[in-house]
Amino acid sequence: MNLSVIGLQWGDEGKGKIVDYISDDCAAVVRFNGGSNAGHTVVKDGKKYVFHLLPSGAARGKDMILASGVAVDPIILSEEISEVSGKILVDSRCSVLTPYDKKLDEIIEEKRGSSALGTTKRGIGPSYAMRALRLEPRVCDILADGFNFEALTRFYDMIGIKTNLQEWVEYSRKVLRGMEGDSGARILELNEKGEEVVFEGSQGSLLDIMHGSYPYVTSSHTLSTYIPLSLGLSKDIVGDTIGVMKCYATRVGSGPFPTEEKGMLAEEIRRIGKEYGATTGRARRIGWLDFVSLKYAVRINGVKEIAITKVDVLSKIRQLKICRRYSVDGKEITDFFKAIPKLDVAESELEEIDSLYGYDFSLGIKGKLKRLIQLIEDELNLPVRLVSYGEERSKTFELS
Ligand code: GDP
Ligand code: IMO
Ligand code: MG
Repeated sequence: MNLSVIGLQWGDEGKGKIVDYISDDCAAVVRFNGGSNAGHTVVKDGKKYVFHLLPSGAARGKDMILASGVAVDPIILSEEISEVSGKILVDSRCSVLTPYDKKLDEIIEEKRGSSALGTTKRGIGPSYAMRALRLEPRVCDILADGFNFEALTRFYDMIGIKTNLQEWVEYSRKVLRGMEGDSGARILELNEKGEEVVFEGSQGSLLDIMHGSYPYVTSSHTLSTYIPLSLGLSKDIVGDTIGVMKCYATRVGSGPFPTEEKGMLAEEIRRIGKEYGATTGRARRIGWLDFVSLKYAVRINGVKEIAITKVDVLSKIRQLKICRRYSVDGKEITDFFKAIPKLDVAESELEEIDSLYGYDFSLGIKGKLKRLIQLIEDELNLPVRLVSYGEERSKTFELS
């Protein structure tokens, strides 16, 4: 059966590490959303790989597939592909992100002033917007001789951006030629031969454009339910969904973050957890485990199993807090959906629980760690299958 790996928080949950851990036996790893705004880290034999556009299976020479919901930046694709050995298929229906999308991303952020979203400036929002305006070229358009870019250039003219796409089109053609294909058909073919694939989500559930903390979200869907649409297949293709969550929370960029912790303690967690963005290098904001939003993320993805990451970080922190309810305008809220319109004023009610301080991971899963896992299982009503306690693949406990 295929498997999907989805982030349950605000991104950077450790999806790259978990995908790397589970993808040994699969035939291919598939990205289905977002673009090079993602930064997925895999540490293999002491070497760190950060993938922005390629799926994390790239680190182990797996075949790679970009489904049609991915916004493909040929410049990043060319850089990343030169570092890896696996075969890549890029769906002919993917949008191809132009240099002007990046320019527009910067301009729009600047115009927002103090309410800037804090995007990655990788041009992702404008690329999905251009797709919706039916102006963005697809892979098949770039590869076809004589695609007419007039409507796109006129649009940019209208907003005062001068374009010259000729050189970029030639370059993109060279990069993309030979990679194009039908991602859905390829996956069906593999499944028919009894081979399985892993779908690697980018960003996190709370950054989904429709179900997240709009407008402080990314511009694509980030949920497991986007997989079939991106592939052009039915929902049965998705297989079971593993939800990945850090055992605390982080957020990079602007927007509400109900369990946010500031000051010295946040600084300490950031330092120990090396919480700096894999794409932009920005300091990630730090918060506590938030079961209100996690329960919602579990529901909107149909999560079957949980993978927890970074418990080793908690073993170096003397305090541990969790949140099971928010207070909004004096009312108690346990359903994230109800908090969405008021997220900016939602206050988390934090409870201090027994910390993991000093936990010795050579013991396996015992005592305090076992109790934390039990708490997560009880709150989310799901089994925890993987517990990650370090960047390397070997630092992972598997629960039966
Ligand atoms: P992704 O975007 O969800 O793939 O996550 P990122 O790669 O952006 O950020 C996760 C960071 O945490 C990376 O630097 C990983 O190498 C690291 N990481 C993953 N799992 C663990 C873990 O269990 N412990 C520690 N200390 N680091 C981890
Ligand atoms: P991975 O896949 C964390 C955030 C940005 C910003 C918002 C919109 O590594 O988990 P965008 O450039 O997408 O228009 O920015 O979304 N963001 C991420 N935050 N991890 C990511 O990806 C992210 N991709 C986008 O910081 O707040
Ligand atoms: Mg990341």
